[in-house]
Amino acid sequence: MTDVALFGAGRIGKIHAGNVVRQPGVALKYVVDVDVGAAKALADLHGAKVADGDAVFGDAAVKVIVIASSTDAHADLILRGAAAGKAIFCEKPVDLALDRAKTCAQAVAKADVPCLIGFQRRYDPTFSALKARIDAGEIGTPEMLIVTSRDPGAPPAEYLKRSGGIFKDMLIHDFDIFRWILDDEAETVYATGSVLTDPSIAAVGDIDATAVTLRTKKGRLAQINTIRRAAYGYDQRFEVIGAKGMLQAGNHKPTEVVAWNADAVAADKPEHFFLERYRAAYAAEMAHFFDALAKGTPIRTSIDDGVKALALADAATASWREKRIVTL
Ligand SMILES: NC(=O)c1ccc[n+]([C@@H]2O[C@H](COP(=O)([O-])OP(=O)(O)OC[C@H]3O[C@@H](n4cnc5c(N)ncnc54)[C@H](O)[C@@H]3O)[C@@H](O)[C@H]2O)c1
Repeated sequence: MTDVALFGAGRIGKIHAGNVVRQPGVALKYVVDVDVGAAKALADLHGAKVADGDAVFGDAAVKVIVIASSTDAHADLILRGAAAGKAIFCEKPVDLALDRAKTCAQAVAKADVPCLIGFQRRYDPTFSALKARIDAGEIGTPEMLIVTSRDPGAPPAEYLKRSGGIFKDMLIHDFDIFRWILDDEAETVYATGSVLTDPSIAAVGDIDATAVTLRTKKGRLAQINTIRRAAYGYDQRFEVIGAKGMLQAGNHKPTEVVAWNADAVAADKPEHFFLERYRAAYAAEMAHFFDALAKGTPIRTSIDDGVKALALADAATASWREKRIVTL
């Protein structure tokens, strides 16, 4: 049995706990949360024990840690995990500060421990099928990418205050998609933004809508549009264009029932939010992690990917604040 400790029993921690216990030969041994009630409820659900960090890092039988705590705890836990030689699965972002994220990446490399960062979109069945078809040459070299990323509603201002801003909290996933789909690094980024949905977001120094234009080192182009409120729900689409055509990846619907009447033809709205839309992606991500550990094969979303997406989020933040094109 591979013993696992989970940090963070919140929204995403619950999803990851369920996926950990589904892996063959894997047991969830500990759940750690500063909110002991939340830790106990999740631990009880999966036959695990409540513990603190010292108990986890002092237990040599724990080979794997899953970090799903609030963002401000990620870096410390990665550093402690690497120092203790444990394999690490950590939610995005690695940290809000690029220097600290780089320190974590260096610690992971030095300790030579596997580390996955939670860019689950790469594991989504639709998005990964699209990427496989690009790699098979179906549209030729990908030249342009358009990403649409809209949330059904904004989180509370309390959350936004500590989130690092929209580029690190929300667009970090879109920056990862950009690097992954175009298979290249950004040369320039221009980001603009506004507060369109809720004035209280301006009060915490953030924005809720962005338009970002990127050019890669090989001259490929991308546009990302995001907003924290879409009246019809969670909207996650992208299209990629090459000489031989275009591939589109779209939303999933809860059911495929379509109602036709005298006024309109109506289908379900997209799945409500990330917990629903990416349910299969979170499951595939966890399965990939344990498969890679068992086989000793590379992790698909590495800590270096986490650092590079964060560098793009930093560049976009500077571009928006200073109203200039940033060269990386
Ligand atoms: N990949 C994704 O799609 C995705 C989606 C949501 C959240 N996230 C990331 O996951 C993390 C958690 O987000 P969430 O939405 O589950 O938040 P949440 O607030 O629901 O849960 C976070 C939990 O962490 C606990 N916590 C705080 N400090 C801790 C510490 N030092 N040790 C242990 N537990 C601690 C909190 O008490 C809370 O129960 C964030 O970093 C977020 O960016 C990723």
